Amino acid sequence: MKLVIAATGASGAIYLQRLLAQIDCAAHEVHLVMSAYAREVAKQELDDLKTPSEVSQHSESDMNVPFVSGSARFDAMVIVPCSMATLGRIASGSSDSVLLRAADVFLKERRKLILVPRETPWNLIHARNVVTLLEAGAIVLPAIPSFYSRPSSLTAVVDTVVWRILDQIGLPSPSAYRWGQESAPAKTSRKKNKRKSESKRAGRLEFRLQAAGTGGGPRKRGTPSKS
Ligand SMILES: Cc1cc2nc3c(=O)[nH]c(=O)nc-3n(C[C@H](O)[C@H](O)[C@H](O)COP(=O)(O)O)c2cc1C
Repeated sequence: MKLVIAATGASGAIYLQRLLAQIDCAAHEVHLVMSAYAREVAKQELDDLKTPSEVSQHSESDMNVPFVSGSARFDAMVIVPCSMATLGRIASGSSDSVLLRAADVFLKERRKLILVPRETPWNLIHARNVVTLLEAGAIVLPAIPSFYSRPSSLTAVVDTVVWRILDQIGLPSPSAYRWGQESAPAKTSRKKNKRKSESKRAGRLEFRLQAAGTGGGPRKRGTPSKS
C-alpha cells in the first residue's frame, strides 16, 4: 500500500506514535509530513517520537513529493492528530502547504482521506467544517477511545482509536479487540471475570441468608431482614 501519514498540532502525538508502530513500514510505502506545531506538541507529549527508518519524511513546504499530484496513485492519507485549524483549512479548500495540498488531492481524486481530530468542546465552525469534509468524502474519525475492551494501560486506550484508523486504511490489526468475537482475549477474560464475580456474589448471598436463618427460601411477610 502507498500511504501518506500527516500530523498536526493537536494534542495526541501518541496516536501517531502507535499508528507508526503498528504499520509494517517495510512492507508498505509510508510518507510522513508533520506541521511545525505537530513537532512542538510531540516534544511536549512524548519523550521521543520514534519514526521507523523505512518511513520517508517530508517538510511541510517541499512540494516536490509524489502525493501532491493526482497522477501519483496512493491508497490513503491519514491526518493524526488533526488540529481544528488544519481541518478548517482543508474544508476551505486551502492547499498552500504539502499537507493541505495532499489532502486536497485525495479529496478531488476520491481517495481515502482520514482525519483524526482531537478537540473538545466543538464550536459551530468546527461542526460545519466537519460536515463540509464529510460531504466532500472525507472520513472523520475523532480521537475518542472506547472502553468496552477494558484497556488496562494508556497504550491500550490509545490503541482502541488506532485500530479504527487501521480498519479504515484497510490494514486491520490482528490484535484489535472486536465486539462479539468470542476468541478476543479481553472478552474471554471479561466473561470469566463476570462468571467469577457472579459466583462470588451468589456465595455471599447464600452466606447472608444462612446467617439470617432464612435458608434461602422466600421471606415471610413481616419477617425482619438482617441485611
Ligand atoms: C500543547 C498544545 C496542544 C494543542 N492541542 C490542540 C488540540 O487538541 N486540538 C486542536 O485543534 N488544536 C490544538 N492546539 C492548537 C494548534 O496547535 C494550533 O491551532 C496550530 O495553529 C495548529 O497548526 P497546524 O494545524 O498547522 O499544526 C494545541 C497547541 C498546543 C501548543
